[in-house]
Amino acid sequence: MLKDKVIIITGAGSGIGRTAAETFAKSGARVIAADLNEAAADATVELIRNSGGEAEARRCNVTDEDDVAAMVAFAVKRFGHINGAVNNAGIEMSNKPVHEMTGKEWRNVIDVDLTGVFYCVKHEVLAMKATGGGSIVNTASSSGIRATMCSSDYTAAKHGVIGLTKAAAIDAAPFGIRVNAICPGLTLTEMTRDRLMNDPTFSVALEGIRQRHIIGRFGETTEIANAMMWLLSDYSSFSTGSSMLVDGGFSI
Ligand SMILES: NC(=O)c1ccc[n+]([C@@H]2O[C@H](COP(=O)([O-])OP(=O)(O)OC[C@H]3O[C@@H](n4cnc5c(N)ncnc54)[C@H](O)[C@@H]3O)[C@@H](O)[C@H]2O)c1
Repeated sequence: MLKDKVIIITGAGSGIGRTAAETFAKSGARVIAADLNEAAADATVELIRNSGGEAEARRCNVTDEDDVAAMVAFAVKRFGHINGAVNNAGIEMSNKPVHEMTGKEWRNVIDVDLTGVFYCVKHEVLAMKATGGGSIVNTASSSGIRATMCSSDYTAAKHGVIGLTKAAAIDAAPFGIRVNAICPGLTLTEMTRDRLMNDPTFSVALEGIRQRHIIGRFGETTEIANAMMWLLSDYSSFSTGSSMLVDGGFSI
């Protein structure tokens, strides 16, 4: 589905991002696996290369615009152009009710989960505009559609990603660039299985969250990666500005 396409993915060192990087490479893409955690990005690339795929690792902090610009420039220099990008790096909510959340906690989540996506979209559009278009996918969340307790920072950021996706889709369309968002429901990753599910505040809400996934279970990273792959591919050529639910029915 992605044969010979050059695809950037941020947050590629863990969870959804790692599985997506591997999935894209198996489908024939050349992958730039970017992550704040350089060792984790290197490990993803090793997994891809060991399976015969092509990938490069790149340390990148998405909250630093210069870092993002340099990461995109690295991809273009290495492969000549980029065809697609998944802006997936993210952190979880600070798990506080709104009246207890500090400004620092709020800014931390907004910086990574919303401003980081803006920097990536901006520099990817600049690069794709120069080389004939492409497809950008932003990882939002079911929290971009519905709220849960103790998640004002994350819910606001993910609603923002959906708005950013729509507005950027309008600006980028004249250059043959599509911009879509994907809204995963709770998916088993390091963020959820290893951190959130061990947090006492989140644990209180967990059973209610599970019941709202009408399919009766949480998601697997491959289920999110496969949907991302469709949005990156030419099969989704008439989709832009959309927010695709891949959430087991959580948001309906
Ligand atoms: N897991 C879920 O249930 C779920 C549901 C909906 C949306 N999402 C979203 O999916 C994305 C991936 O989540 P995940 O569950 O795989 O998380 P994860 O914690 O397993 O992986 C996130 C990756 O992002 C990287 N990262 C964090 N801050 C960064 C920064 N400033 N710059 C670059 N990289 C950075 C981390 O190093 C990590 O490798 C996030 O945007 C998250 O909000 C996850």
